[in-house]
Amino acid sequence: MTHPLIEQFQRAGQAQVFAFFEQLSPEARQRLLDEAAEIDLAEIERLNRMLLAPGAAAGVDLEGLEPAPYERRPEQGGDPAAWAKARAEGEEALRSGRVAAFTVAGGQGTRLGYDGPKGTFPVTPLKGKPLFQVFAEKIRAAGERYGQPLHWFIMTSHANHAATEAFFDAHGFFGLERGRVHFFRQGRMPAVDFEGKILLEGPGTIALSPDGHGGSLRALERSGSLDLMQREGIDTLSYFQVDNPLVRAVDPEFIGWHLLRRSDMSSKMVPKAYPEEKVGHFCVQRGRLVVIEYSDLPVAMQRETEPDGRLRYIAGSIAIHILDREFIRRIARPAAGGSAGSGQPNQALPFHRADKKVAAIDAAGRPVKPDRPNGVKFEMFVFDALPFARNPVVIETRREDDFSPVKNATGVDSPQTCRDDQLRQFARWVRAAGGAVETDATGLPRTVFEVSPLFGYDEESFVEAWRRLAPPPAVRDGLYLESS
Ligand code: UD1
Repeated sequence: MTHPLIEQFQRAGQAQVFAFFEQLSPEARQRLLDEAAEIDLAEIERLNRMLLAPGAAAGVDLEGLEPAPYERRPEQGGDPAAWAKARAEGEEALRSGRVAAFTVAGGQGTRLGYDGPKGTFPVTPLKGKPLFQVFAEKIRAAGERYGQPLHWFIMTSHANHAATEAFFDAHGFFGLERGRVHFFRQGRMPAVDFEGKILLEGPGTIALSPDGHGGSLRALERSGSLDLMQREGIDTLSYFQVDNPLVRAVDPEFIGWHLLRRSDMSSKMVPKAYPEEKVGHFCVQRGRLVVIEYSDLPVAMQRETEPDGRLRYIAGSIAIHILDREFIRRIARPAAGGSAGSGQPNQALPFHRADKKVAAIDAAGRPVKPDRPNGVKFEMFVFDALPFARNPVVIETRREDDFSPVKNATGVDSPQTCRDDQLRQFARWVRAAGGAVETDATGLPRTVFEVSPLFGYDEESFVEAWRRLAPPPAVRDGLYLESS
């Protein structure tokens, strides 16, 4: 049987994708053709050549790497007036409806071992609210505070799209206006074997997986989200990951720094907690801002110190960014956007190679159960857009105000550490408002209580709400501060 698409695959040396085609039902054939149509064969060939071929560039270029400069917080020596100005600018942008929130939620959450979209994972200490609800309530609260309800874009994957939408539906969109919550799927890439041959997961199924969070820029464009933003007068996107409930989902100071600097893409950093913390590092290379993953920065460099004992590569990336709409368009459509703007000839995000155990079938159609990597997945990272950004700004944030991700089932960055960090935050807010709460030496309260983002979603809004309570409640087990 011939079909133009099958012929294209044959010419590209990928005929094995259709090895079992004749045995498939008509519906299964169509499904396979649809999957195959998603694949850009020229792109796969280019990646095979660049990342797989013998002699392909190994490792990351570390030539001329320097630590990136960043804006210190006022309490760390930064200029309080500049931060106040940024805040005012960000608040104005929120009041005028220029800002939307954006969550990347297409990951597979394998490390956590949770079956279901990660955003549905329960995280809060008392109510067990799922991640999506925490973000929804923060976004709702910010909308109420600035008198302008926000749009929220959520990137899903093929695997979790339907379940994500159903979850929001079942929970009444957590009080958000349905018309302002936009779901779209990210793209997929086929896994290949070490010879660059596209792998099959089953006789009629290609081994496809999400194209990385960097795929969000393409997906925003392809899904029509950028056009929607334009129609709604939104030019600024507040980007965060689904795994981090502490994030200030829309932070006026951050938005303000981004806008005042006329930045294409801005980022938050925290000083690394210890030299080998598993975060990306903000660096400058040949005059451009880059993020070097912990796995790519030699341990000796991770441990390097300045004469005063501070870590040299101190700026850890917590994957929180602000992106300009037209910058996203330029990156998503490199050919069309081309060299306009920063004078870059090619602004497409690069792909990274990850060797993985891929569930696949062999040439005889038998399932292989790999116990070590048998294939390669290709992924894009959103921070690879930074070198293309004009005027990128990195600002410091307090870890305890912005970052406590849930990544692993136990140990660091687990549900337990995240729950404790939320409780510490609630306790700090109570104290800032003049209330009493008993804690241990790490600031962890001895009682389990919870603050809804609708009561207070940062220290300032919490203190205002607390002071309106007459009299303020005693902090005890089971206390839930719900709405102001
Ligand atoms: C990531 C960053 C790291 C940063 C850390 C902070 C990378 C390679 N590293 O690490 O620099 O310090 O977060 O927490 O990103 N996602 C998708 N689609 C995909 C893949 C991921 O939407 O195809 C989303 C996930 O749902 C999640 C986020 O991206 O929200 C992070 O993905 P993950 O692979 O867990 O990144 P980390 O390795 O933890």
